[in-house]
Amino acid sequence: MEYSVKSSAATTLKTACLVVGVYQGGDFTPAAASLGKTIRDDMKRQMGKQFAGEAGQTLVSGSVKGLSAARILFVGLGKKSDCDLLALHKASSAAMRALIDLGINEAATLLAELPIKGADSERMARAVVESSEHAAYRFDRMKSKPGKKPQLKRLTLLVASRGAANAAKRGVTTGKSVAKGVAFTRDLGNLPANVCTPSYLASEARKLARQYPALKVRVLTETEMKRLGMGALLGVSRGSRQPPRMVIFEYNGGKRDDKPIALVGKGVTFDAGGISLKPPARMDEMKYDMCGAASVFGAIVAACELELPINIVGVTPAVENLPGGNATKPGDILTSLSGQTIEVLNTDAEGRLILCDALTYVTRFKPRTVVDMATLTGACVVALGHHATGLMSHDDKLADSLLAAGNRAGDRAWRLPLWEDYQSDLKSNFADFANVGGREGGAITAGCFLARFTRELHWAHLDIAGTAWLTGARKGATGRPVPLLMEWLMQESGRT
Ligand code: BES
Ligand code: MN
Ligand code: ZN
Repeated sequence: MEYSVKSSAATTLKTACLVVGVYQGGDFTPAAASLGKTIRDDMKRQMGKQFAGEAGQTLVSGSVKGLSAARILFVGLGKKSDCDLLALHKASSAAMRALIDLGINEAATLLAELPIKGADSERMARAVVESSEHAAYRFDRMKSKPGKKPQLKRLTLLVASRGAANAAKRGVTTGKSVAKGVAFTRDLGNLPANVCTPSYLASEARKLARQYPALKVRVLTETEMKRLGMGALLGVSRGSRQPPRMVIFEYNGGKRDDKPIALVGKGVTFDAGGISLKPPARMDEMKYDMCGAASVFGAIVAACELELPINIVGVTPAVENLPGGNATKPGDILTSLSGQTIEVLNTDAEGRLILCDALTYVTRFKPRTVVDMATLTGACVVALGHHATGLMSHDDKLADSLLAAGNRAGDRAWRLPLWEDYQSDLKSNFADFANVGGREGGAITAGCFLARFTRELHWAHLDIAGTAWLTGARKGATGRPVPLLMEWLMQESGRT
């Protein structure tokens, strides 16, 4: 999609469709108020039937006297008093879906010009681009014939002034970079596990290093992992014929000796559960069990595109978790890279086993902050459903900054406690501790397990089991939590 920014009047703009924001109850946004009474009356007449201005609702109307646009697409923003960036994200992606359904090839939007507290023209343009790209995303590389591409090729963002136009143009550029990272993450997630293996991830990483000069990539092989002593990771991988890989990205956009931020992502390219085999229903979705790693890839892509003035280390342990004659068995005891021993009571709690070795490994980069992302527990989905990512950290300031970034990016997280009280659930009679607690508080005990490997780190954990992909008719990777991460990284790098 191409985006342009114009500060001309909405009434005289020739376009196949003009997108107009409407608050719940029927009030127009200030930018849309200039369109005149006829248009508002027309919309009001149709209101109530299928359109009430609720966030994300849309209504298409024909041409109107006094307006050069061929049609109007009304899109709901929800309550006027609650209208924030999240509402803008919802409205703008709904608008893009509707525009694509119309089959037109060009449109203009007034959504980049809303009165939102704390958001300027740059921020809003960025939100419009990110959400539009999200809605226009398609994944059909695995079909024998490519699907129909959306007809829509250009979206014009209308803003109030020249100054606003310059800011909005910056926002468009930023939004495209973030969207590129998100799409990269979604592509990796959507690929089937017979294509997207640990080795495939490694080769994709090497490709990126050839593409971006600021990026270095190293890949650890099984032999190197053995030599290092990554017994927990290797214990997961041994049931599979696919050799494990660990990709290490080093993005250097900051000063040479600036301490890096480390991103660690779970890369289980397929999680059958191992000997503690999963039931068959929806097991196909366990191809998404590498979405934590995919979001590290996406964040690295976006950071390279944005040329963020910061150093980032990305670490993605990648394995397949399958049953097999050589697989780890319940009761087996593994020695992690940290030296701590782990009794594997359930081979399906494998994510924490690969992450713990990656988290120990990452200490060698002396990171100032570490954030890990993982589709770690079904329990997190039970606790928070599919809207919020689970966030755990001992550090209130870090937790708050990640939560705030998620709110601004329309990619929200919610904090769960990480109290010592939960640690006793991991008691083992034979090893230092076990890899699972009971069923209760499962997202938290998983976080507590990881906490045993991050005592020297400034660290936060994101459980994205409920947010990394959608199930049902709209099954597919969401690219979360890349928007949250980029918002946070931009702030950390002094760029907002
Ligand atoms: N990858 C799963 C978590 C998961 C399950 C994510 C369903 C999304 C949907 C993880 O490896 C796993 O199997 N976790 C177990 C942990 C349990 C054995 C303590 C789970 O959640 O059931
Ligand atoms: Mn599992
Ligand atoms: Zn898993």
